[in-house]
Amino acid sequence: MSVSRILQYLLLLLGSFCAHAFPLVPASAQSAISIEFKDNGQTVKALSLDELRAIAPVASIKVFEVHENAERIYRALPARPVFDKVFGKGWEKAREIIFTSIDGYQPSIPVMKLLAHDAYFAFAHEDGTPFTLTNRLQNNEIVQLGPLYLVWDNTKSKELLDAGASDMPYQIKRIELKFMPPFPNMTPPARSSAEAQRGFMHFRQHCMACHTINGEGGGKAPELNYPISVTEYIKPEYLKRWIMSPQSIRYNTTMPGLTGAILDRETATEELIAYLKAMSNAKRVPANP
Ligand code: HEC
Repeated sequence: MSVSRILQYLLLLLGSFCAHAFPLVPASAQSAISIEFKDNGQTVKALSLDELRAIAPVASIKVFEVHENAERIYRALPARPVFDKVFGKGWEKAREIIFTSIDGYQPSIPVMKLLAHDAYFAFAHEDGTPFTLTNRLQNNEIVQLGPLYLVWDNTKSKELLDAGASDMPYQIKRIELKFMPPFPNMTPPARSSAEAQRGFMHFRQHCMACHTINGEGGGKAPELNYPISVTEYIKPEYLKRWIMSPQSIRYNTTMPGLTGAILDRETATEELIAYLKAMSNAKRVPANP
């Protein structure tokens, strides 16, 4: 082979490499991120998007996109077969699954819910547009959805539509099975009122994915209890108003108001405040993460 022929060949190789590499940069950067799977504190596997696509069938799923108030079609992997392959069937015996996002959002979803409804890990829009959305619940912020975005086959389920966006984490980087009741330091003392206990349920559903109590919960928004509880430094009437409609107090806040899906928002807000007050008497120094 002549030198020029070798050069030509090398150029060809380089050309085809570039043609593949450059248009794919954003996607390949995303698919290079591994998603960590943990079982009660132990890492079981770390898999890239490509590796995940090899273990479960890709589907197109139409969902009502709660963040945008419109229907969307995603390319996605069904969640249950992914869990079966990664954790084995034993995952169904877990109590909750904690999803952690790159931005610190951290919802904990009951396994019962994942068994009762079809959840999917979306990784692209069906129409090939960039994998982002405009989050009308967070001051219309444009957010990245990858590497994985948990969506639900919700178009025919009133229960799922009513749940709002709280169990739809995007930017998922870690998935952890919990067999024991999680969050002991967020749980109100056993002697707390029924009102505070109901408030704790609302807190779990609507607040803990972003906020921590005594260090437990999501890392996307401030701690609310330690060392000084929000019930101690925010005037009661403003605390209630903040929870129901934060933008009526701080114009550019990204905190969403308590979702409209809750039938009685005012009662729910009062119960939330009862819970926060109960926790102000149960402060614990947050453990180091
Ligand atoms: C999507 C994330 C998110 C969710 C869900 C969320 N918050 Fe927030 N919250 C924030 C952010 C971010 C702030 C920081 C203040 C700001 O953005 O203006 C905040 C601030 C607060 C504050 C004020 C703290 C201070 O010292 O100024 C309170 C009180 C609060 N949230 C309570 C709640 C309660 C109760 C819920 C559940 C009903 C909730 N939040 C749900 C993101 C969230």
